[in-house]
Amino acid sequence: MESTTKMALVTGGSRGLGKNMALALAAKGLDVILTYHTNKTAADDVVAQIEAMGRQAVALQLDTTDRTQFDAFLENVTTYLQEKRGQARFDFLINNAGTALYAPIEAVTEEQMDAVYDIHYKGVFFLTQKALPLMNEGGGIVNISSGLARMTMPGSSVYGSLKAAVETLSRYMAKELGPRKIRVNVVAPGAIETDFGGGRVRDNKDINDQIAGYTALGRVGLPDDIGGVVAFLCTEDAYWINGQRIEVSGGQAL
Ligand SMILES: NC(=O)c1ccc[n+]([C@@H]2O[C@H](COP(=O)([O-])OP(=O)(O)OC[C@H]3O[C@@H](n4cnc5c(N)ncnc54)[C@H](OP(=O)(O)O)[C@@H]3O)[C@@H](O)[C@H]2O)c1
Repeated sequence: MESTTKMALVTGGSRGLGKNMALALAAKGLDVILTYHTNKTAADDVVAQIEAMGRQAVALQLDTTDRTQFDAFLENVTTYLQEKRGQARFDFLINNAGTALYAPIEAVTEEQMDAVYDIHYKGVFFLTQKALPLMNEGGGIVNISSGLARMTMPGSSVYGSLKAAVETLSRYMAKELGPRKIRVNVVAPGAIETDFGGGRVRDNKDINDQIAGYTALGRVGLPDDIGGVVAFLCTEDAYWINGQRIEVSGGQAL
Protein backbone atom coordinates (compact mmCIF):
# COMPACT_ATOMS: atom_id res chain seq x y z
CA MET A 1 0.00 0.00 0.00
CA GLU A 2 1.24 3.51 -0.83
CA SER A 3 2.23 5.69 2.13
CA THR A 4 0.48 9.05 2.36
CA THR A 5 2.98 10.48 4.87
CA LYS A 6 5.03 13.31 3.36
CA MET A 7 8.69 12.50 2.72
CA ALA A 8 11.59 14.97 2.90
CA LEU A 9 15.14 14.53 1.61
CA VAL A 10 17.74 16.50 3.60
CA THR A 11 21.33 16.71 2.34
CA GLY A 12 23.98 16.86 5.06
CA GLY A 13 21.60 15.52 7.69
CA SER A 14 24.22 13.80 9.83
CA ARG A 15 25.31 16.83 11.85
CA GLY A 16 24.64 20.45 12.67
CA LEU A 17 21.76 22.22 11.00
CA GLY A 18 20.80 19.35 8.69
CA LYS A 19 20.46 16.99 11.65
CA ASN A 20 18.27 19.53 13.42
CA MET A 21 16.14 19.93 10.28
CA ALA A 22 15.73 16.15 9.93
CA LEU A 23 14.60 15.83 13.55
CA ALA A 24 12.27 18.84 13.28
CA LEU A 25 10.70 17.44 10.09
CA ALA A 26 10.10 14.11 11.85
CA ALA A 27 8.57 15.95 14.81
CA LYS A 28 6.12 17.53 12.34
CA GLY A 29 5.14 14.06 11.14
CA LEU A 30 7.26 13.70 7.98
CA ASP A 31 9.43 10.74 7.05
CA VAL A 32 13.02 11.60 6.18
CA ILE A 33 15.79 10.52 3.83
CA LEU A 34 18.99 12.14 5.04
CA THR A 35 22.40 12.10 3.44
CA TYR A 36 25.88 12.12 4.90
CA HIS A 37 29.27 12.57 3.29
CA THR A 38 31.62 10.51 5.50
CA ASN A 39 29.94 10.34 8.94
CA LYS A 40 27.81 7.19 8.62
CA THR A 41 27.73 6.60 12.38
CA ALA A 42 26.38 10.08 13.10
CA ALA A 43 23.84 9.72 10.29
CA ASP A 44 22.66 6.33 11.58
CA ASP A 45 22.21 7.90 15.02
CA VAL A 46 19.89 10.53 13.51
CA VAL A 47 17.94 7.74 11.78
CA ALA A 48 17.57 5.92 15.11
CA GLN A 49 16.30 9.11 16.78
CA ILE A 50 13.73 9.61 14.01
CA GLU A 51 12.59 5.99 14.17
CA ALA A 52 12.19 6.37 17.94
CA MET A 53 9.73 9.17 17.13
CA GLY A 54 7.67 6.69 15.11
CA ARG A 55 8.67 7.97 11.69
CA GLN A 56 10.55 6.28 8.85
CA ALA A 57 14.10 7.34 8.04
CA VAL A 58 17.16 6.19 6.15
CA ALA A 59 20.68 7.58 5.76
CA LEU A 60 22.32 7.41 2.32
CA GLN A 61 25.85 8.40 1.36
CA LEU A 62 26.26 11.31 -1.06
CA ASP A 63 28.99 13.72 -2.02
CA THR A 64 27.03 16.72 -3.31
CA THR A 65 30.15 18.10 -5.01
CA ASP A 66 30.26 15.09 -7.34
CA ARG A 67 27.60 15.34 -10.01
CA THR A 68 28.58 11.93 -11.42
CA GLN A 69 27.17 10.26 -8.26
CA PHE A 70 23.72 11.80 -8.54
CA ASP A 71 22.13 9.22 -10.86
CA ALA A 72 23.28 6.30 -8.70
CA PHE A 73 22.22 8.14 -5.54
CA LEU A 74 18.75 8.79 -6.91
CA GLU A 75 18.49 5.15 -7.95
CA ASN A 76 19.14 4.26 -4.28
CA VAL A 77 16.47 6.76 -3.26
CA THR A 78 14.05 5.25 -5.79
CA THR A 79 14.69 1.70 -4.57
CA TYR A 80 14.22 2.73 -0.94
CA LEU A 81 11.00 4.62 -1.63
CA GLN A 82 9.58 1.84 -3.75
CA GLU A 83 10.32 -0.83 -1.17
CA LYS A 84 9.29 1.14 1.92
CA ARG A 85 6.41 3.21 0.61
CA GLY A 86 5.22 1.58 -2.59
CA GLN A 87 5.93 4.63 -4.73
CA ALA A 88 9.17 6.26 -5.89
CA ARG A 89 8.15 9.82 -5.02
CA PHE A 90 9.03 12.31 -2.32
CA ASP A 91 7.73 15.75 -1.37
CA PHE A 92 10.42 18.08 -0.05
CA LEU A 93 14.08 18.60 -0.94
CA ILE A 94 16.27 20.46 1.55
CA ASN A 95 19.58 21.50 -0.03
CA ASN A 96 21.62 21.96 3.14
CA ALA A 97 25.02 20.22 2.83
CA GLY A 98 27.88 22.67 2.90
CA THR A 99 31.41 23.48 3.90
CA ALA A 100 33.07 26.75 4.88
CA LEU A 101 35.73 28.93 3.32
CA TYR A 102 37.29 31.81 5.21
CA ALA A 103 39.89 33.52 3.03
CA PRO A 104 40.56 37.18 2.17
CA ILE A 105 40.13 38.17 -1.48
CA GLU A 106 43.91 38.54 -1.91
CA ALA A 107 44.47 34.92 -0.84
CA VAL A 108 41.59 32.95 -2.45
CA THR A 109 42.85 30.25 -4.83
CA GLU A 110 41.05 28.93 -7.89
CA GLU A 111 40.79 25.51 -6.21
CA GLN A 112 39.12 27.03 -3.15
CA MET A 113 36.66 28.94 -5.30
CA ASP A 114 35.81 25.83 -7.32
CA ALA A 115 35.23 23.84 -4.11
CA VAL A 116 32.76 26.44 -2.77
CA TYR A 117 31.06 26.67 -6.18
CA ASP A 118 30.75 22.88 -6.43
CA ILE A 119 29.07 22.38 -3.05
CA HIS A 120 27.08 25.60 -2.65
CA TYR A 121 25.87 26.19 -6.21
CA LYS A 122 26.58 23.53 -8.83
CA GLY A 123 25.68 20.59 -6.57
CA VAL A 124 22.46 22.31 -5.48
CA PHE A 125 21.50 23.04 -9.09
CA PHE A 126 22.12 19.59 -10.55
CA LEU A 127 20.88 17.55 -7.57
CA THR A 128 17.63 19.52 -7.77
CA GLN A 129 17.44 19.11 -11.55
CA LYS A 130 17.89 15.34 -11.29
CA ALA A 131 15.58 14.95 -8.26
CA LEU A 132 12.68 16.86 -9.83
CA PRO A 133 11.21 13.87 -11.71
CA LEU A 134 10.79 12.12 -8.32
CA MET A 135 9.07 15.06 -6.62
CA ASN A 136 5.35 15.20 -6.02
CA GLU A 137 3.20 18.09 -7.16
CA GLY A 138 2.46 20.27 -4.12
CA GLY A 139 5.85 19.66 -2.54
CA GLY A 140 8.67 22.10 -2.00
CA ILE A 141 12.36 22.92 -1.99
CA VAL A 142 14.23 24.75 0.75
CA ASN A 143 17.69 25.98 -0.17
CA ILE A 144 19.95 26.88 2.74
CA SER A 145 21.75 30.16 2.25
CA SER A 146 23.48 32.32 4.86
CA GLY A 147 23.17 35.70 6.50
CA LEU A 148 26.47 36.37 4.74
CA ALA A 149 24.60 36.77 1.45
CA ARG A 150 23.14 39.97 2.94
CA MET A 151 25.78 41.19 5.41
CA THR A 152 29.52 41.22 4.85
CA MET A 153 32.28 39.71 6.94
CA PRO A 154 35.92 39.86 5.81
CA GLY A 155 37.03 36.48 4.44
CA SER A 156 33.61 35.36 3.24
CA SER A 157 33.49 36.97 -0.23
CA VAL A 158 33.33 33.74 -2.22
CA TYR A 159 31.05 31.89 0.20
CA GLY A 160 28.70 34.86 0.67
CA SER A 161 28.41 35.64 -3.02
CA LEU A 162 27.77 32.02 -4.01
CA LYS A 163 25.07 31.79 -1.32
CA ALA A 164 23.63 34.95 -2.91
CA ALA A 165 23.67 33.11 -6.24
CA VAL A 166 21.62 30.30 -4.70
CA GLU A 167 19.12 32.86 -3.43
CA THR A 168 18.64 34.19 -6.98
CA LEU A 169 18.51 30.65 -8.32
CA SER A 170 15.76 29.89 -5.80
CA ARG A 171 13.55 32.62 -7.21
CA TYR A 172 14.06 31.18 -10.70
CA MET A 173 13.22 27.72 -9.39
CA ALA A 174 10.06 29.08 -7.76
CA LYS A 175 9.02 30.64 -11.07
CA GLU A 176 9.76 27.62 -13.23
CA LEU A 177 8.32 25.05 -10.82
CA GLY A 178 5.17 27.01 -10.02
CA PRO A 179 3.17 25.14 -12.68
CA ARG A 180 3.96 21.92 -10.77
CA LYS A 181 2.88 23.61 -7.49
CA ILE A 182 6.37 23.09 -6.08
CA ARG A 183 7.24 25.99 -3.76
CA VAL A 184 10.89 27.10 -3.44
CA ASN A 185 12.15 29.15 -0.53
CA VAL A 186 15.45 30.09 1.08
CA VAL A 187 16.33 29.86 4.75
CA ALA A 188 19.37 31.99 5.55
CA PRO A 189 20.74 31.23 9.02
CA GLY A 190 22.91 33.70 10.85
CA ALA A 191 26.04 32.45 12.59
CA ILE A 192 25.21 29.17 14.37
CA GLU A 193 27.17 27.03 16.82
CA THR A 194 27.95 23.90 14.77
CA ASP A 195 31.08 22.12 13.47
CA PHE A 196 30.96 24.43 10.42
CA GLY A 197 34.32 26.04 9.61
CA GLY A 198 36.05 23.99 12.30
CA GLY A 199 33.43 25.03 14.85
CA ARG A 200 34.80 28.54 15.10
CA VAL A 201 31.49 30.30 15.90
CA ARG A 202 30.98 27.80 18.75
CA ASP A 203 34.57 27.41 19.98
CA ASN A 204 36.21 30.81 19.45
CA LYS A 205 34.99 32.96 22.32
CA ASP A 206 36.11 36.23 20.72
CA ILE A 207 34.18 35.51 17.49
CA ASN A 208 31.17 34.25 19.46
CA ASP A 209 31.09 37.36 21.68
CA GLN A 210 31.59 39.70 18.73
CA ILE A 211 28.65 38.23 16.76
CA ALA A 212 26.44 38.13 19.87
CA GLY A 213 27.28 41.82 20.34
CA TYR A 214 25.78 42.84 17.00
CA THR A 215 22.79 40.49 17.17
CA ALA A 216 19.58 42.08 18.41
CA LEU A 217 18.64 39.06 20.52
CA GLY A 218 22.10 39.11 22.13
CA ARG A 219 23.57 35.69 21.31
CA VAL A 220 24.73 33.61 18.36
CA GLY A 221 22.41 30.94 16.97
CA LEU A 222 21.99 27.28 17.93
CA PRO A 223 20.86 24.43 15.64
CA ASP A 224 17.50 24.38 17.44
CA ASP A 225 16.86 27.92 16.15
CA ILE A 226 16.82 26.70 12.54
CA GLY A 227 15.29 23.24 12.04
CA GLY A 228 11.77 24.21 13.03
CA VAL A 229 11.68 27.03 10.48
CA VAL A 230 12.66 24.66 7.67
CA ALA A 231 10.12 22.11 8.90
CA PHE A 232 7.40 24.78 9.00
CA LEU A 233 8.08 25.55 5.32
CA CYS A 234 7.33 21.87 4.64
CA THR A 235 3.85 22.02 6.20
CA GLU A 236 0.43 22.93 4.82
CA ASP A 237 0.48 26.14 6.89
CA ALA A 238 3.23 27.46 4.59
CA TYR A 239 1.39 26.68 1.36
CA TRP A 240 1.34 30.32 0.17
CA ILE A 241 4.98 31.12 0.96
CA ASN A 242 6.92 30.92 -2.29
CA GLY A 243 10.09 32.47 -3.71
CA GLN A 244 11.01 34.01 -0.35
CA ARG A 245 14.20 34.40 1.65
CA ILE A 246 13.72 34.00 5.40
CA GLU A 247 16.72 35.07 7.45
CA VAL A 248 16.88 33.25 10.79
CA SER A 249 19.56 35.07 12.71
CA GLY A 250 18.04 36.64 15.80
CA GLY A 251 18.50 40.00 14.09
CA GLN A 252 22.19 39.82 13.24
CA ALA A 253 23.74 43.05 11.90
CA LEU A 254 20.40 44.79 11.39
N1 LIG B 1 26.78 27.04 10.96
C1 LIG B 1 26.62 28.27 10.51
O1 LIG B 1 27.02 29.27 11.14
C2 LIG B 1 25.89 28.49 9.21
C3 LIG B 1 25.38 29.78 8.97
C4 LIG B 1 24.70 30.02 7.78
C5 LIG B 1 24.55 29.01 6.86
N2 LIG B 1 25.06 27.77 7.12
C6 LIG B 1 24.85 26.74 6.10
O2 LIG B 1 24.12 25.68 6.69
C7 LIG B 1 24.46 24.45 6.04
C8 LIG B 1 24.82 23.41 7.09
O3 LIG B 1 25.91 23.90 7.87
P1 LIG B 1 26.25 23.27 9.29
O4 LIG B 1 26.61 24.40 10.17
O5 LIG B 1 25.23 22.30 9.71
O6 LIG B 1 27.60 22.48 8.92
P2 LIG B 1 28.26 21.17 9.62
O7 LIG B 1 27.85 21.07 11.05
O8 LIG B 1 29.71 21.28 9.29
O9 LIG B 1 27.60 19.94 8.84
C9 LIG B 1 27.86 19.80 7.47
C10 LIG B 1 26.99 18.72 6.89
O10 LIG B 1 27.23 18.67 5.47
C11 LIG B 1 27.73 17.38 5.12
N3 LIG B 1 28.74 17.51 4.06
C12 LIG B 1 29.97 18.09 4.15
N4 LIG B 1 30.61 18.00 2.97
C13 LIG B 1 29.77 17.34 2.12
C14 LIG B 1 29.85 16.92 0.77
N5 LIG B 1 30.95 17.14 0.01
N6 LIG B 1 28.80 16.28 0.23
C15 LIG B 1 27.68 16.04 0.98
N7 LIG B 1 27.55 16.40 2.25
C16 LIG B 1 28.57 17.04 2.82
C17 LIG B 1 28.29 16.79 6.39
O11 LIG B 1 28.31 15.36 6.31
P3 LIG B 1 29.34 14.48 7.23
O12 LIG B 1 28.80 14.55 8.65
O13 LIG B 1 29.27 13.11 6.65
O14 LIG B 1 30.68 15.11 7.10
C18 LIG B 1 27.31 17.33 7.43
O15 LIG B 1 26.14 16.57 7.45
C19 LIG B 1 25.56 24.79 5.04
O16 LIG B 1 25.01 24.96 3.75
C20 LIG B 1 26.11 26.11 5.55
O17 LIG B 1 26.68 26.85 4.49
C21 LIG B 1 25.72 27.49 8.28
